[in-house]
Amino acid sequence: MSNNSHIIVALDYADEKSALALVNQLEPDSCRLKVGKEMFTRLGPQFVEKLTSKDFDVFLDLKFHDIPNTVAGACAAACDLGVWMVNVHASGGRRMMEAAREEIEKSSHKPSLIAVTILTSLDTDDIHEIGYQGSPAENVYNLASLTNQSGLDGVVCSPKEVEHLRSSLPNDFLLVTPGIRPAGSMADDQRRTMTPAEAIKAGSSYLVMGRPITQADDPMEVLVSTEAGIAEI
Ligand code: C5P
Repeated sequence: MSNNSHIIVALDYADEKSALALVNQLEPDSCRLKVGKEMFTRLGPQFVEKLTSKDFDVFLDLKFHDIPNTVAGACAAACDLGVWMVNVHASGGRRMMEAAREEIEKSSHKPSLIAVTILTSLDTDDIHEIGYQGSPAENVYNLASLTNQSGLDGVVCSPKEVEHLRSSLPNDFLLVTPGIRPAGSMADDQRRTMTPAEAIKAGSSYLVMGRPITQADDPMEVLVSTEAGIAEI
């Protein structure tokens, strides 16, 4: 099955029935699915297996952050689950990221391995309180560079950070961006959004989209029209 889609649909639901009601309206070669901490904690690996058995690529968004040995074990479990992408916190450090990379390399099924740099919910005061110096943007750049040096495939970042990161990191380094809103749609609680075409033009590799798709009357229509808008760039 070939999947050229740029869109990762965020499955942010509190129960399986609602999530599957959406999934059953989607085609596996038209998008990918993101399963985060809420759904995974409620429904467990069986839910992920249900999605992979329907041929969907799954981004397991659990943001592992622990000692290297523990994160490596969690990554091995993600490989066994057959997910397409998995992530860790870059602030876990080089040895932790390298241990994750090595573990994935041992597997016959190798998901993409990406890192979270600075959570976009943190502002300058927040990061200083934790002990970081400088601006969030400087720390995002430093942690993205460390992620690249540690052999990972990319980072999750705000679409506003893409242009700078794309200009200073390898062309094939994945930049996965949430905070995406099609032109004219509601911003919800996202503050600094970009349209899908703007984000791809700036250098995003994949777009994480939740509510513009999950709340749509016709989710497939939003996927198809969004990809068509991107193809016009
Ligand atoms: O509904 P919406 O498109 O805003 O969903 C975006 C998804 O991306 C959610 O799952 C949210 O948790 C996630 N996310 C985000 N901003 C970040 C990191 C992740 O919106 N900085």
